Amino acid sequence: MAKQKVKRVDLIFKNCNCNEIIKASLKKPKEEIIQMLIDSELKGRGGAGFPTGLKWKVAAAEKSNRKYVICNADEGEPGTFKDREILDRILCKVLGGMALCAYVIGAREGFIYLRQEYRFLIPKLEKMLDTFHEWMEDFELDFTVKLFIGGGAYICGEETSLIESMEGRRGEPRNKPPYPTQDGYLGKPTVVNNVETFVYTMMIMHIGADKFKEMGVKGSSGSKLFSVSGDTPKAGIYEVELGMTLESFVKEFGDGDTKAVQVGGASGFCVPRKRFKETHIGYQGGLKGFSLPTGGSMMIFNSSRSMYNVLHNYLVFFEEESCGQCTPCRVGCQQLLKGVEAVKRGEKSQKYLNDLLRLAKTMKITAKCGLGQSVANSFSSIVENFREEMIY
Ligand SMILES: Cc1cc2nc3c(=O)[nH]c(=O)nc-3n(C[C@H](O)[C@H](O)[C@H](O)COP(=O)(O)O)c2cc1C
Ligand code: SF4
Repeated sequence: MAKQKVKRVDLIFKNCNCNEIIKASLKKPKEEIIQMLIDSELKGRGGAGFPTGLKWKVAAAEKSNRKYVICNADEGEPGTFKDREILDRILCKVLGGMALCAYVIGAREGFIYLRQEYRFLIPKLEKMLDTFHEWMEDFELDFTVKLFIGGGAYICGEETSLIESMEGRRGEPRNKPPYPTQDGYLGKPTVVNNVETFVYTMMIMHIGADKFKEMGVKGSSGSKLFSVSGDTPKAGIYEVELGMTLESFVKEFGDGDTKAVQVGGASGFCVPRKRFKETHIGYQGGLKGFSLPTGGSMMIFNSSRSMYNVLHNYLVFFEEESCGQCTPCRVGCQQLLKGVEAVKRGEKSQKYLNDLLRLAKTMKITAKCGLGQSVANSFSSIVENFREEMIY
């Protein structure tokens, strides 16, 4: 059953003795840690929702003399600002999760891939890294973590572009498969996880898989951090159990005049008021109705907002951030942007929107990576639900 109420939790930022949790976890057999993560049904908090236990299991099974752990702190999705807060306040938990991963898969080196705009955090991160490396020595785990500062491109949040850029090349997605767990950084098995995901692995070690699974709903276990922004009196970061309906979310965070919520940032879906009841926030497959996953971005729009302007902003963003490697996305982003502008100026009839919807659908099927494939999410959901706002 979807949650009819927003259930706030206060676990992620809670003080804990990180070093004690790491120390105790490193005494567990590796298989036990993997099993705990699988039992918890933890899914990656970066957006795609891949099961974390399975990812670590695959990387652990790879035979290789070198393996790597990468913390994805690129946080480029518009409307997402929760990883910044985690890095600022509880970096010890992120590093703890990375150490667990290193222990389980057999890695000796790790990286935090830090969003360019978060450089102000570097002194703090470096200080904590010194402490962390002392812990590693005490616990006799041969694992060091370095910082890698991104160049400022949204596409470098995609795990294979991120790895390409770390190797000194242009940040462009690789063909998948092979996946990074088999052929990642420098061609070696690599686990890439989101900042928040690493924190949850520590939480699961602390409270146990069953307690974690008591939160959330079937198929979407646990809690999650949400970055709430837009037309809300409560903009900020909240830890909430997964599985709530959008209706309950809006009741809690809206300003009483919410007309739409953009779930999952520019690459996510725009849900109009008439669908709040049947939509819940979580991963596919667990609940009846329409489930929307999100890396955490929840943008609320009230009736004063022009949804044309909202869509236009997203398209400008995608046109700018498309890496240009594949034609459907490189040309498609430009055509969608030019197309909606032409319809809004009255130079094209509103029927042209149907051609643009077909183009977006084609991009979803043919673009090489998640960026081009997800442009259709916001495009189609805004054009289909707010068509009257798109026309002259
Ligand atoms: C265009 C694009 C941008 C992405 N940006 C991020 C990001 O900023 N942070 C992130 O953790 N994952 C991002 N991802 C998802 C990563 O490719 C990857 O799935 C994720 O880091 C895996 O971690 P998780 O399993 O813990 O979620 C992005 C994906 C795409 C397609
Ligand atoms: S879909 Fe876009 S971002 Fe992805 S490879 Fe193609 S051009 Fe690059």
